[in-house]
Amino acid sequence: MYFGADYYPEEWPRERWGYDARLMAEAGFNVVRLAELAWALMEPEPDRYDFGWLDEVIALLYRHGISTVLGTPTTAAPAWMLDLDPEVTTVGEDGVRTAYGYWANYCITSPILRERTRRIVEAMAAHYRDNPAVIAWQVDNEFGVMGRARCYCDRCQEAFRRWLQRRYGSLEALHSAWGASFWSHLYTDWAQIPIPRRTVGHHNPGLVLDYARFCADRTAGYQQLHVDILRREAPGQLLTHNFLGGHFTQLDNFQMGRALDIMGWDNYLEPPQYQAAALSHDCIRGAKGRNFWVLEQQCSHKFWAPHSQLPAGAARLMSLQGVAHGADAIIYFRWRAGLIGAEQFHDGILPHDGRPGRVYEEIKGLGQELKQLSAALSDTTPRAEVAFILSYESLWALENQPHHADLGHPWRYADRIYSELLARHIPVDFVAPEGDLSRYKLVIAPALFVLRPETVANLTRFVEGGGFLLVTVRTGQKDEHNRVVDIPFPGLLAGLCGATVREFDSRPAGQAVRVRVEDAWGGDEASADTWLELIEPEAGTEVVARYEEGLYAGRAAATWRAAGRGGALYLGALGPVTAPIVGWLLEHAGVRPPVAVDAPAPVEVAVREGEGRKIIFVLNYSPEVQTARLGFAARELLAGSEVAGDLTLPPYGVRVLQAI
Ligand code: GLA
Ligand code: ZN
Repeated sequence: MYFGADYYPEEWPRERWGYDARLMAEAGFNVVRLAELAWALMEPEPDRYDFGWLDEVIALLYRHGISTVLGTPTTAAPAWMLDLDPEVTTVGEDGVRTAYGYWANYCITSPILRERTRRIVEAMAAHYRDNPAVIAWQVDNEFGVMGRARCYCDRCQEAFRRWLQRRYGSLEALHSAWGASFWSHLYTDWAQIPIPRRTVGHHNPGLVLDYARFCADRTAGYQQLHVDILRREAPGQLLTHNFLGGHFTQLDNFQMGRALDIMGWDNYLEPPQYQAAALSHDCIRGAKGRNFWVLEQQCSHKFWAPHSQLPAGAARLMSLQGVAHGADAIIYFRWRAGLIGAEQFHDGILPHDGRPGRVYEEIKGLGQELKQLSAALSDTTPRAEVAFILSYESLWALENQPHHADLGHPWRYADRIYSELLARHIPVDFVAPEGDLSRYKLVIAPALFVLRPETVANLTRFVEGGGFLLVTVRTGQKDEHNRVVDIPFPGLLAGLCGATVREFDSRPAGQAVRVRVEDAWGGDEASADTWLELIEPEAGTEVVARYEEGLYAGRAAATWRAAGRGGALYLGALGPVTAPIVGWLLEHAGVRPPVAVDAPAPVEVAVREGEGRKIIFVLNYSPEVQTARLGFAARELLAGSEVAGDLTLPPYGVRVLQAI
């Protein structure tokens, strides 16, 4: 387990470094992340490198038992870059070029930026390849932040056209894929194809989806530029990146993860957002199907949020939530609040004056606890029997056509189901549409808007093998070109679901309709809102729930099609009706929480499993004392005592247990 902070020695006098290193060691740190924003210090002018200061601080920290994750600084290019390339900054959707002044706004299509990226990464790799203190590299910083993944400059437009040319070969093929005859969008030259800058209305959906793919590819290519150099020049070193978390959807994390050794992300989601944080942890773990790192963990105030002092214990709580979901490194942003720069009021583990106080003590306490836990946690990871299919192209297409204001974020279709599972303490994986589903009992296909035949084959195999499948609204409506399919929805999945969608109704906010779950399925009275579909079951398909009022009164809202020992449930509505449906599926698929703990929200129970052991985290996200009831006797790994029955959790408290 790695534990440490993002450290900016370049902001502090050298005389301070030794004291910082001692304080870090006392807090149980074994790692820092360095240099990811320090390009101008490492290369003060083109091709003149200065790694002396960095060598010194890396060596000093190492003498205190602290290793380094080294950042390539490519997201914070020096001002001289603008002399070499005056058009290096990104252009927004409105066609306006961003001004120099922040970081993260250098267009990765710029040939100069790419060449300069190559040189600085090569220089760093050659310099640090044999440095024993460097345990990993973080390539770049927060890919896609500040719109960087979606640039609309002329060069990106040209690159997009070349990408399309490679993809389609001819304009005829592109026209047919996009349905370009609509609104007269037929091109006589590749040079006429626009990048989807803001115009008076909507762009062609095929163009928009291809632009999203192009952008994801472009960032993956820029990452690859780093990866190729580092693999060649510094072989054997681990490569990671700090992604923006699960709800950031402008990249394909499966694609990004393939090139890296370890996925990572930056967690600024505070206790009231614990569900979103849990989902992010799971998504990031899912990208490689293995444990991950948190490279920036909030520890106190955020400078960009007006009300964000964390309550006592919350930094520990957020960190342990990460560990519970599979984080093997917790690195705090940042070591000390800055005296200089635009983030002056972003707090650190140390406040501005550099004296250790409340936050330092909390982190130090956790450092000791993680040491105590490290043997128990080694070779453990969450083990899920439930998986969500995560289709980035569906998210991109939905983002472009949300239809309903409350569905503006394409994750909304999955969030509610995810929350139902979290509330029942059921661990969840996220898997690519063609990923291996054989180890799961229940698979959820949330709004697989863009549906490929390979995905249908994968899901069919899963169901025929005895799996339970939950398919939701807006699935199977598009082909890979973002054209609507010419067969009834859910398109290629209609056969497996044994049902088709005859109509849909996007409901005004606040206008729910009553839904009744059939007696054989539990008989719950529930409601549906936001998006309703009228489902027509085929012969042999059972109705699971019906609308009780409105246009679709008496008709099916959800259906079940058995296939062997499993089957497919089509849920044609959003809203509270999700709860009984998920409950039924879990029960019949035989999915149970890994441990029997009765604890209502906002208490989470999360488990890491290893050879013959389960490490159980009980986490209280509320400012009140909560009680969880254990169905087994356990040893508290931190306190050492034995517990059974009621387990009290202080506000924002966490208990870590192992069943005995
Ligand atoms: C991002 C960046 C950091 C810092 C924090 C502040 O995560 O990577 O350098 O700007 O935001 O919240
Ligand atoms: Zn650009």
